[in-house]
Amino acid sequence: MTQSDHRPGTLIPGGAVFPHRHLTGIEGLEPHEITFLLDEADTWVEANRTRAAPDRRLAGSTQINAFFENSTRTLLSFEIAGKRLGADVVNMHAAQSSVKKGETLIDTAQTLNAMRADVIVIRHMSSGAVRLIADKVDCPVLNAGDGRHEHPTQALLDALTIRRRLGGIAHKRVVICGDLLHSRVARSNILALTALAAEVRVCAPSTLMPPAIERFGVTAFTDFDRAMEGADVVMMLRLQTERMEGGYVPSSREYHLRYGLTLERLAKHAPGALIMHPGPMNRGVEIDSAVADHAEQSAITEQVEMGVAVRMACLDVLTRRARGVEGWA
Ligand code: NCD
Repeated sequence: MTQSDHRPGTLIPGGAVFPHRHLTGIEGLEPHEITFLLDEADTWVEANRTRAAPDRRLAGSTQINAFFENSTRTLLSFEIAGKRLGADVVNMHAAQSSVKKGETLIDTAQTLNAMRADVIVIRHMSSGAVRLIADKVDCPVLNAGDGRHEHPTQALLDALTIRRRLGGIAHKRVVICGDLLHSRVARSNILALTALAAEVRVCAPSTLMPPAIERFGVTAFTDFDRAMEGADVVMMLRLQTERMEGGYVPSSREYHLRYGLTLERLAKHAPGALIMHPGPMNRGVEIDSAVADHAEQSAITEQVEMGVAVRMACLDVLTRRARGVEGWA
């Protein structure tokens, strides 16, 4: 799916602070809407840390996590987020679903809709599948990653991590390095970070660099050392071998030499930069263990923590209208 043929989310009339019915991508969101979701998520970070007064605002609601592609942390994160808000959470894995039996996406959407869920979270291997299902169901749909297209909650949790650690996002130099061609994380992050006025640099071997990526308002590099110069944040991406057909890189050893984040590289080009990775990591390929586990600079486990808060915020905000929350109904 290209940038131009993506339809923005269905707008809810009435001018709520977040007027979208679904969250299928960062594309189509205004900067103040992104900031609103981050502000909402911020309140859940503190609530999760203290766990003082449980908030069960989604009690009586059914949340279906329909995952047509494998996931550990994202599925778990959405499940914890829903349960922490009191929702009844049901997980549907592809291996157990009729997808394996050849059911079409439309049939799947109709089946999910007939279950009368209050919110549906979908991960799918095809770009655009989540939007297609969203168009066919009556409840809000959250995209948990569709093909190479978007992974909006990942971009939001990354933005929240940066905002909390660096005190802001505007004018920060963020380098995203790795398999940009197959990465929905990169795409959603580019959209979110440029919307929030960060200076985004992307870096990849030319075989893994999407054509004309500059139109997203980023600067493209094939030389990692140059890209890292003066960076505030270095975000590393996994080589998505499951989405590759054929050889994009000579070998993982060669890749590590040119694009692996090592302590030496960090110290030389971006000392003090915040280190991020959406996981799962290939230690020793795109990132060395000493960097991933860096006590001061690595924000990788914090990203996981922010993930729960961001998903709580999204589940809450998207269901407000149906729950009749004042100002939203
Ligand atoms: C990412 C994904 O699935 O898109 N992981 C995640 O959501 N934590 C990135 C990846 O798979 O490399």
